[in-house]
Amino acid sequence: MFQIIDKKDLAPSIKQFVVDAPLVAQKARPGQFIILRIKEGGERIPLTIADYDTQKGTITIVFQEVGKTTKELGTLKAGDYLADFVGPLGKAVEFSNHKKVLGIGGGLGVAPLYPKLKMLHENGAEVISIIGAKTADMLIMEEEIKAVSDKTYVCTDDGSKGRHGFVTVVLKELLEQGEKFDEIIIIGPPILMKIGTEIAKPYNIPIMVSLNPIMIDGTGMCGGCRVTVGGETKFVCVDGPAFDGSKVDFDELMKRLQTYTSEEKLALDKYHS
Ligand code: FES
Repeated sequence: MFQIIDKKDLAPSIKQFVVDAPLVAQKARPGQFIILRIKEGGERIPLTIADYDTQKGTITIVFQEVGKTTKELGTLKAGDYLADFVGPLGKAVEFSNHKKVLGIGGGLGVAPLYPKLKMLHENGAEVISIIGAKTADMLIMEEEIKAVSDKTYVCTDDGSKGRHGFVTVVLKELLEQGEKFDEIIIIGPPILMKIGTEIAKPYNIPIMVSLNPIMIDGTGMCGGCRVTVGGETKFVCVDGPAFDGSKVDFDELMKRLQTYTSEEKLALDKYHS
């Protein structure tokens, strides 16, 4: 059993848990994820590690209440226990002597962006970040991102905070102004990563995205998380979640994410009834 040490509401329907999981924290690196189950026999939820503390033995996760299980997860409080908390899973990201990096996070994507920027910042890289959300109250981890960035641009779709518009607009402006980066990291909804990649691709800067497909076992056995990268089939749970954005087939990813929409709605209706 894994105890929830701390719980925070980051935005309406977005919650943060700090979980006591010393063995996971010991090995966790930026880019990796965990799979949790609220109770025996429950649904497995894959969540990217938003932060980790090796000393305290804790892992921070951020999730949005969208379906039955995440809504149920959101009802847990500090002091409650999770049945399973497996990880760290997936490949950790590597950065080789990066001097200047651009990190872009949209919506919930700001959470998995944070540990990568934190590591780059600690390694002495200049970090420029662009974070965004639909509205000001949906924006998460602004202070954390600012703390590890040399400059941060904030955007909201409705203009209620920062720049009015999508994060990709600022990306386009920076590239058009001739800003150079060793790598661009884009994390958020697939459509954001697709558009961001299309904008950045002509500039020949490496683009890292972090994919969040349907996952079941998380160990490369079920094939549920398969994606096409550079014409090859890859399993996000073992080959990712980070990939070269310029090679990802985002259209296929978006189509596969729709697969269980009706089943998910059914489960949610049942949970509410
Ligand atoms: Fe089953 Fe990746 S989740 S292969």
